[in-house]
Amino acid sequence: MQRQGYSSSAVIIHWLLAVSIFFLFVSSWWMMALPLPSDVFTYREFPFQLHKNIGITLVLLLLIMLYVRFRHRPAPESAEVMRPWMRKLAILDHVILYGLIFVICISGYMSSAYSGWDTELWWLVEIPNWGYEENEELNIFYSNIHLWTCWALLAVLAVHISGALYHAFRNDGIVRRMLRL
Ligand code: HEM
Ligand code: HEM
Repeated sequence: MQRQGYSSSAVIIHWLLAVSIFFLFVSSWWMMALPLPSDVFTYREFPFQLHKNIGITLVLLLLIMLYVRFRHRPAPESAEVMRPWMRKLAILDHVILYGLIFVICISGYMSSAYSGWDTELWWLVEIPNWGYEENEELNIFYSNIHLWTCWALLAVLAVHISGALYHAFRNDGIVRRMLRL
């Protein structure tokens, strides 16, 4: 019998993504409020490394998510539950979510690469700086892209979560597709 919802791996990755992105949003505004690094204040180092490590790991998770969801495609929802326009909106919302998360991570990485601060993946592997030199203008340019795409992600997530709540209140089985392991 074909599974109605997403595969267990897709469900686990979806919730890992959701929790990590929520954490990145909440922690980043605190992280940005910390004093700029100097000989005396070095607290920024740990939260920045943690932010970058979680963000880079998210890209890998997203790639695995795309792989597993295309390998084990969820069965289409019945037309009674999802009208054609709703399905189109959901697909558009998902595609934009994937795209935005990629752009956020790439712009964050580029901003960091031009900031002159190295990234050590989980304090184990030094990521080479691929020849990027410290450059304040490009750091700000990518940092602005990072910030604005984060706001766009919040807006698209608002649509996503409103849709999920709508289906949860109707109890039509859509949210269960993303809950059942
Ligand atoms: C940062 C938070 C979140 C992100 C980045 C996110 C991302 C995604 C993505 C990319 C998909 C598409 C999966 C695919 O078909 O390829 C998806 C599906 C889904 N998400 Fe989320 N999500 C988040 C939070 C939530 C929350 C809080 C809920 C529930 C309240 C939720 C419920 C769902 C459901 C039910 C689906 C499946 C929809 C369907 O079957 O068409 N998501 N999510
Ligand atoms: C979905 C993943 C991510 C989310 C939601 C996220 C979110 C944020 C937010 C909200 C800020 C504060 C922006 C501001 O107030 O200017 C920020 C800053 C920053 N993020 Fe991310 N981030 C993500 C991934 C990454 C990745 C992968 C990296 C690098 C490898 C990164 C590096 C940075 C850096 C360097 C800053 C500071 C920018 C500055 O100095 O203006 N982020 N992030």
